[in-house]
Amino acid sequence: MNDIEKEHVSLRVQRGGPDDNLHFDTFELPFEPGASVLDALIEIRRNIDPTLAVRYSCVSANACRECMVRIDGEVDYACTARLTGGTMTIEPLAKKRLIRDLVTDIVPPKEQLASVVAARKQET
Ligand code: FES
Repeated sequence: MNDIEKEHVSLRVQRGGPDDNLHFDTFELPFEPGASVLDALIEIRRNIDPTLAVRYSCVSANACRECMVRIDGEVDYACTARLTGGTMTIEPLAKKRLIRDLVTDIVPPKEQLASVVAARKQET
């Protein structure tokens, strides 16, 4: 038997890509205290809607910076931001090119380096 009392959150998540009519889907989820926004998004992908696009890599190591989204209007890391209960609104970064749902075009430094190396190889 699980002794941890679960709380509930209503996550409003922006959906759609650059050519779509953007809208919000709302997901009602139970969560244990201390769970992160990313935990909830992963739970949605696994058990409710596998089409939800969200990007992450290091999961709570706060190293990859791929999980940055807007949470109730503030830019934050989904992997370290804690669920608060009530209603939370999750949106993609506003100043980056939207790919789909919560994924924006944030090219990690390694990929930037790879593209520079590839471009230099073509020059030679
Ligand atoms: S998943 Fe890497 S910083 Fe959040």
